[in-house]
Amino acid sequence: MRAVDLIHKKRDGGALTPEEIRFLILGYTAGDIPDYQISAWLMAALWRGMSRAELAALVEAMMESPRRLDLSDLSAPKVDKHSTGGVGDKTSLIIAPIVAAAGVVVPMVSGRALGHTGGTLDKLESIPGFNTRLTLDEFHEALGQVGCALIGQTAEIAPADRKLYALRDATATVESPTLICASIMSKKLSESIDALVLDVKTGSGAFMKTEKDSAYLAELMVETGRAVGKKVVALVTGMEEPLGRAVGNSLEVIESVEVLRGGGPADLRELCLELSAWMLHLVKKAATVEEGRRKAAEMIESGRALRKFQEIVRRQGGDERALEDYSLLPHTEQRRDVTSPVGGRVVEINCEKIGLASVLLGAGRERKEDAVDPAVGLIVHKKLGDAVQPGEPLVTLHYNAAPRADAAAALVIESYHIAASAPEKSPLVRQIIGP
Ligand code: URA
Repeated sequence: MRAVDLIHKKRDGGALTPEEIRFLILGYTAGDIPDYQISAWLMAALWRGMSRAELAALVEAMMESPRRLDLSDLSAPKVDKHSTGGVGDKTSLIIAPIVAAAGVVVPMVSGRALGHTGGTLDKLESIPGFNTRLTLDEFHEALGQVGCALIGQTAEIAPADRKLYALRDATATVESPTLICASIMSKKLSESIDALVLDVKTGSGAFMKTEKDSAYLAELMVETGRAVGKKVVALVTGMEEPLGRAVGNSLEVIESVEVLRGGGPADLRELCLELSAWMLHLVKKAATVEEGRRKAAEMIESGRALRKFQEIVRRQGGDERALEDYSLLPHTEQRRDVTSPVGGRVVEINCEKIGLASVLLGAGRERKEDAVDPAVGLIVHKKLGDAVQPGEPLVTLHYNAAPRADAAAALVIESYHIAASAPEKSPLVRQIIGP
């Protein structure tokens, strides 16, 4: 078999067999097939699409690893959640400790920044010392001791996604429902979980911009999980504006801690309670979703979720003092307000451009090998429907390089549409698929 023939076949709209998909994925993971050939196949797959059979074979090939995680020695139920990617979406940092504090094991394998969206691993690594690169044995041990650990794809868990994820980020091949589904489900189905909650974003800041495309992605993922006997539910949620106010790694850690302390922005808190409620309900820690919401809120109000987050940070080598004293987190010396040239109400925000502004400041990657700047990002002051006076700040940029801030400021201005009146805001949760 030759990779070039398989690229040719996909380019011309053919469907690859499971053996052909396995050949490409295992060959790439082993280093036998180069980046440029897999990039070409990814682009062809994105344009031509993939069949359900190709998707199933892709997930299976991406899950192949020398060892499997087996958490059967932990008696508590195991559940996880994953988002398809958004701007300011820091829910994992809040939900994981809430659910673990309620006595459920949360083995979370997450990703890094992808395209214009942020990544849980980059956010966590902005906490000085936090180690997301645990081995499988260390991950297992941390789960037994703390009930929750957060790591990235490793040579032992979803090894193919570790390489493919970074390659897709740098080759504009993220926005394919099958590639997103395979990336997420290969990680999640390797976690030895009983149930999974998916947060499928929709709107200008999501990879799937329309509710129809987001619902299709949600269905693909629910079907993939159910085919292997997992309980899966997908919530299609709005991403027409950044979630909360902070966008950028250490800024998002601060906002997450604020929610765990009982404060923080209302939309972020609402979504965290909703997703946590479903997680607790799926593993029967709550008889109804409503009871799950009450339990999740209780974990915050009692301080148990914050204490669990401190425990997670400590166990993974992070400096937990940074959760009390934010000056210990990376921060920029320079800040600049981007002000509104006009007055009115915020009618629309191009949320992808806000994400790209944060990438331009250095919070994401342009090439695979780039490092992120954990300190940079932005704080959103004006959200959809808000009244704005001419000259009022829309956003504050936190930056380390002035030319980058100029470019980011221009994107922020472009992304806001302000007019005399704004329509009613849509609810955060648009659809629930698969319970
Ligand atoms: N999150 C992932 O883990 N993978 C994707 O492809 C998109 C979002």
